[in-house]
Amino acid sequence: MKTQVVIIGAGPSGLLLGQLLHNAGIDNIILERATPDYVLGRIRAGVLEDGLVSLVREAGVAERMEREGLPHDGVKIAFNGEIRRVDLHKYSNGRQVVVYGQTEITADLMDARKASGAPAVYSVENLKICDVRSDAPYVLYEKDGKQERIDCDYVAGCDGFHGVSRKTIPDNVRKEYEKVYPFGWLGMLSDTPPISDELIYGISERGFFLCSMRSEVRSRHYVDVSLDEKVEDWSDDRFWNELSSRLPEEVRGDLVTGPALEKSIAPLRSFVCEPMQYGRLFLVGDAAHIVPPTGAKGLNLASSDVNYLYRVLLKVFKENKPEAIEQYSELCLRRIWHAERFSWWMTSMLHNFGDEIDRKIMNSQLDFYTGTEVGQRVIAEQYVGLPYEEVS
Ligand code: APR
Ligand code: PHB
Repeated sequence: MKTQVVIIGAGPSGLLLGQLLHNAGIDNIILERATPDYVLGRIRAGVLEDGLVSLVREAGVAERMEREGLPHDGVKIAFNGEIRRVDLHKYSNGRQVVVYGQTEITADLMDARKASGAPAVYSVENLKICDVRSDAPYVLYEKDGKQERIDCDYVAGCDGFHGVSRKTIPDNVRKEYEKVYPFGWLGMLSDTPPISDELIYGISERGFFLCSMRSEVRSRHYVDVSLDEKVEDWSDDRFWNELSSRLPEEVRGDLVTGPALEKSIAPLRSFVCEPMQYGRLFLVGDAAHIVPPTGAKGLNLASSDVNYLYRVLLKVFKENKPEAIEQYSELCLRRIWHAERFSWWMTSMLHNFGDEIDRKIMNSQLDFYTGTEVGQRVIAEQYVGLPYEEVS
């Protein structure tokens, strides 16, 4: 088999890139280790920057997002028992975010892929990426016990944090930066109305909380827990009681509880791999970077990589400029480090770690950044997302 681009991974990065390339007439094959149901069963975040919203529109997959997504003009931050609102719309020149689950985007992209007839192979095993430093790379994998080979021009490694793509870059070329935080987020999804029409991120004596949503009747809540906690030890009642104890009094009475649809614990990590290009292999999304979820940047960063790789590949295939690939890593990493900084900063302000003086300083930061115009601008511009750069 032969194609122009092999895409490894059918998460949101791989599917979105595949759709954009397919629409542009660039042949691609997606290879995914898991089954479609497994991919769709993962509950992830759901705040979309306008850059991602535009890219989903450009891919022609925006119909349900436009109908069901909830545009948000503000976000709330609670500390010292008080709730403050950051006016995203006012302080980011009229921009906004859209609340729409990553699981829904993935489902929309999978449907579009199926309708397009472009190939996506699920349940592949033992995938290997070969000869990416040559001008004739290929990918080997097994499907139903049979060895397969695809020759290609480029390989897009969209295979997440635990994939094979990153490790294909030799150790002496690859540099990884990592920080692991001393807590995780316990998340719970429920068919209960959200406590507020906007997200509330907050910190209390008992720790962090986030009241988020998927729709007017479905909520997603989080509390931070120590790393040795097990999800089985968290009954629904225990979760609701813990969340309730962390909420400011003015909203506590508005909390509507109900049975959990899903509960899971995710560790928090900051991680970046440099470079993101090695010969004809590109790393995209979680394969190259992880942010702690405070700030909702994971999916949005993946989409910014997809944006850059798509535009670079347009230069390569449509304008015959193979040298365009050289800018990929630098373009991506500039934006990634900004989002790493923002996510680390939001995490530091909103979690109880460090010593007493750190907590006092973080409390003062929350006061300054939510209580002044200049501070709100700093949060708003970054929360709605920094702009994508031009690709030359
Ligand atoms: N071969 C084929 N597929 C693989 C392999 C492999 N060796 N290893 C991993 N995969 C698949 C995984 O099964 C998964 O479906 O790659 C996919 C990667 O998807 P995600 O982990 O969702 O990563 P990505 O598409 O980059 O999504 C962006 O940003 O912060 C996050 O929550 C956010 O998951 C979202 C991510
Ligand atoms: C979510 O809705 O799951 C969510 C929202 C905002 C975040 C993280 C997760 O920062």
